[in-house]
Order: sequence, then C-alpha cells, then structure tokens
Amino acid sequence: MARAAALPCLAIWLASACGGGGDAGSDPGATAPPAPVGPTQWVWVLPAGFAPPVVPADNPMNATKVQLGRQLFYDTRLSVNNTLACAGCHAPSLAFADGRTVARGATGQSHPRNAPGLINVAYQATLDWANPAPRTLEQQMHTPLFGQSPIELGVNDANRDAIRQRLADDASYPAQFTSAFPNEAEPLQWDNVIKAIAAFQRTLISASSRYDQARAGAISLADNEQRGQALFFGTRGSAQCVQCHGGPNLGGGAFASTSGTTGAPGFYNIGLFNIGGTGAYPARNRGLFETTGLPQDMGKFRAPSLRNVALTAPYLHDGSADTLESVVALHAAGGRVLGPGPYAGDGRSNPFKDPLIDQIRLSAQDQSDLVAFLRTLTDEAALTRADFSAP
Ligand code: HEC
Ligand code: HEC
Repeated sequence: MARAAALPCLAIWLASACGGGGDAGSDPGATAPPAPVGPTQWVWVLPAGFAPPVVPADNPMNATKVQLGRQLFYDTRLSVNNTLACAGCHAPSLAFADGRTVARGATGQSHPRNAPGLINVAYQATLDWANPAPRTLEQQMHTPLFGQSPIELGVNDANRDAIRQRLADDASYPAQFTSAFPNEAEPLQWDNVIKAIAAFQRTLISASSRYDQARAGAISLADNEQRGQALFFGTRGSAQCVQCHGGPNLGGGAFASTSGTTGAPGFYNIGLFNIGGTGAYPARNRGLFETTGLPQDMGKFRAPSLRNVALTAPYLHDGSADTLESVVALHAAGGRVLGPGPYAGDGRSNPFKDPLIDQIRLSAQDQSDLVAFLRTLTDEAALTRADFSAP
C-alpha cells in the first residue's frame, strides 16, 4: 500500500447513468477499486493524467453491469464445451495476456496470433494486432465469441441459444441482467453479454508501475533504468522507440479518451520476414494487408503498448520472440534474418519496412539499459486488484 500512497491525487470522474448526482468520494489510493455510488451509476477512479475512456452512448457504465461483465469474463460456460473463458487467454496475473506463443481456443485450435494484455485497453483506438476495423470493445468481442476461424470460445448459430440458456439457468445471472439493463423486457441477450463484458474491460485501467511512480516524483529509477528511459524517449542516442510506442500507454496507436484522441493509429512493418525476397509475411499473418489487400500494407502491425511488457512474453504478433532482449536486438539490427525453412528471408531488406527502423542505433549497453527500462513498466498493483480478478 505504500506504493499507492506515494502516488499523487487521482482524477475522479462521475459517470452518472440515470441522472443522479452523487459525491465522488474522498481521495482513494491507486489500488482502490472504483467506488460506485450506487448500482446504477459509475465513478471513474483514474490514474493522474488519464481522462475517462470513450464509452459508447448505447452502453453507459453502471456498477451492476461492470460486476456482471466481470463474472462473464471469467465464466467458462461462455464457451462451446464449458472449458474456456475470456480469462483463459487473458489472465490477470499476466496483465491479461496468456503466456503462450499463440493463443489456443476452446476446441484446441491454434490462433495465428499471440494474445495481447488488456490493461488500459479502454484507450485503444483500434483493437487487435492489425485490424483497423474494430473501434469498440463491443465490436471486437464478436471475434472471440463467434469467430469460426480460428475457434476461440466457439459460439455459433447452432449452439448460441443453448449457451444463452446456461446463463438463464444460473441462480443469479437473470436478476443481474435485469438490474444491469433496466427497462428491457428480455435483458438476458447476447448483445447484453457483450455490453457487460465490454463495460468490465473498460474498468481495467491502471498506471502505478515504477515508471509511473518515478514520473510522479515518488521514487527514483536506477541509473541504468534512467539511461534506458532517456534512450526510449529520444533524449539520448538514437533509439526511436517513442516514435512508434508513444502516448500514455507507450504504444497501442492512438489514445482515445473523452478529452480527445491523440496521434493516428500506427501500423508498421519492422522487418520480421521477407519470404522469397518479395517482402511477404506468412499467410494469415500479413498484418494490415489481410484486411486492406494493399501491397504497401504487407507486414504492418500495431506497435503494441509496452505497459507490463515484462509479463506478456512471448512477444510479437506471432509470439516468435521469447525475451525482451531478443526483441530489442532485432529492432536494433534493423530486422530479422530467417532461414533455412519455409519462411527463409532477410527481413532487414523487406521493401515495406518502416524507414525509422534503420535509424535505430543501439550499443550492447544501450540495449541492456532499454530492457531495464522496459521492466519498470510492470504495474504489480494491477495484477492482484480484487475488482479486476475472478469474482
Ligand atoms: C483463444 C484465446 C482467446 C480467447 C478465449 C479470448 N481472446 Fe481476446 N484475444 C486473443 C488473441 C490471440 C487476440 C489478438 C487477436 C488479433 O490480433 O487478431 C485477442 C485480442 C483481444 C482484444 C484486443 C486487445 C488489443 O489490445 O487490441 C480484446 C479487447 C480481447 N481480446 C478481449 C477478449 C474478450 C472480452 C474475450 C471473451 C469474450 C476474449 N478476448 C477471449 C485471444 C483470446
Ligand atoms: C517503426 C516503429 C517502431 C519503432 C521505432 C520501434 N518499435 Fe517496437 N514494435 C513495433 C511494432 C510494429 C511491433 C510489433 C511487430 C510485430 O509483431 O510484427 C513492435 C514490438 C515491440 C516489442 C514487443 C511487444 C510485444 O508485446 O510483443 C517491444 C518490447 C518493442 N517493440 C520495443 C521497442 C523498443 C525498445 C524500441 C526502441 C529501441 C522500439 N520498439 C522501436 C514498432 C516499432
């Protein structure tokens, strides 16, 4: 708790769902759960400098909805065979990543991509590694719930009524849906399952890592961490990191909050593949190209948020890098050389590689300092927060 007490005042915002006013309460610590003033209202308890995230008009926050969403997020009954929940691939102890190279669905299918962490996901302006389409958590959720290639939770037209019925047969869900979605005749619907889980995910906001504490002046980082920080933010040497991993979440593209969107969603090719010398990436993992079909979008992925990155190994969209050291080294080398094998090629000369990558210059000491800095981004408090974990 000393850590929380050392942080400056937090911003508190009242999001009233039904016109009620309400006292936002006294100064809470960073690890205190948001303090709802009533079941139909919501109070944001936010880290310093964070405005409330954007909330869709048709899914206002309220405390019972968030609690319901939390239960659903951890409920394996939402999968085809009762084996997997959202949390099965997004575990709180790993900052809501899963520790696997690529994710594994309820029926055992491998996902082509690595599962990202979800802390501060409410601020992502686009969702997933390389998909410009989903702009809200509600839209994104159609993929894990209903996607058939790969199967994640495996809900489909044949089983969706039966799975909904599992929730309807539960002792407490029906009443919870009724209070979370007042004035609806039949609130226990898939649309509302999605809305509740999205509301819960919007509350996964935290920024109390050692990096945040040092920014607030509460602690000092070690010398090597400070050197890494100076490199990262471009005040020393030539690392370029902040050019792509910028904003309050150190990456993740634009930061979308009620006080405005900063930056444009960024997708970059960092030279991981160059199959046959054509610049190609492996099928199904060709980045933005998968949705746009534009040649110049080959291999372009979102620069992920680096918050909690020490916990979310393995790395990259396909989980192909095991350590932070190796990721920093391949950025510094201007890409990755692969071969022999089906993906053989010199990624460093990928024609679609972002020009910034070639401007990165890092000595061995610089790389080690950068890794030390990346390790300061771990937010221990968020991993065990009662309001984030399984109910
Ligand atoms: C089989 C494992 C698996 C399950 C189950 C799963 N996810 Fe995911 N999740 C992933 C993977 C993999 C990605 C990256 C997908 C991509 O980029 O194509 C992802 C991406 C996301 C993202 C985007 C994060 C970002 O930073 O852009 C959100 C949000 C999310 N999942 C929420 C959920 C929710 C909510 C559920 C339950 C309804 C769920 N996931 C179930 C594996 C899973
Ligand atoms: C040109 C933009 C760009 C620059 C500059 C850049 N990165 Fe990245 N970085 C990316 C992209 C894009 C990815 C994901 C690539 C993929 O998976 O295909 C990434 C991935 C990473 C990852 C893996 C994160 C994860 O969750 O898998 C780390 C760590 C990382 N970068 C650190 C750094 C550091 C440190 C620097 C500065 C030395 C840096 N990056 C500079 C674009 C950039």
